[in-house]
Amino acid sequence: MTVDLREVASGDYEYLIGRVDDWWGGRSMAPMLPRLFFDHFPATTRIACDADDGATLGFVCGFVSQADPRVAYIHFVGVDPAARGRDVGRTLYRWFAAQARARGCTSIACVTSPVNTGSRAFHAAMGFSAKTVENYDGRGEDRVVFHLDLTDPSLPR
Ligand SMILES: CC(C)(COP(=O)(O)OP(=O)(O)OC[C@H]1O[C@@H](n2cnc3c(N)ncnc32)[C@H](O)[C@@H]1OP(=O)(O)O)[C@@H](O)C(=O)NCCC(=O)NCCS
Repeated sequence: MTVDLREVASGDYEYLIGRVDDWWGGRSMAPMLPRLFFDHFPATTRIACDADDGATLGFVCGFVSQADPRVAYIHFVGVDPAARGRDVGRTLYRWFAAQARARGCTSIACVTSPVNTGSRAFHAAMGFSAKTVENYDGRGEDRVVFHLDLTDPSLPR
């Protein structure tokens, strides 16, 4: 399978918002993915497709921090369960890192729930450091906070 990346197009939001809960193993994720991430951050959001038939395989959405423009933030990354383990996530993250570097960012940040062991393993494989922060998103809402140093010369480009 060859993965193509393309800009967000009409209908992508509708397609993905109906699937994210399933893709996240039945957790209620859709309320955390409002349309604004697809409408207002085109430079740091991409859709992954199968190069052969155009089928949607996954997506990444993020932005450059307004508080610190050296930091790029990934809000969501998701890959269709049927396409996992074939470097779709890696392709999306490499693309995002290249966009972040091109915009002068020196690091990438993102967070995940401590229960999301798949996300933790993926981010570790992508070279992120991880720290669990208690009550990060409010009382009882601990999060694993990831950090990637884009200046690390050992990172693949
Ligand atoms: C996390 C996710 C995006 C990974 O996508 P993917 O396309 O399957 O990942 P890749 O095939 O590109 O894998 C890249 C690396 O991560 C590792 N990895 C990915 N998912 C893993 C898992 N569940 N367990 C262990 N390792 C995993 C792969 O083994 C690979 O490591 P390698 O360097 O040793 O080859 C995908 O599983 C997903 O959509 N999960 C649900 C949504 C989610 O939790 N998103 C993250 C939080 S926003």
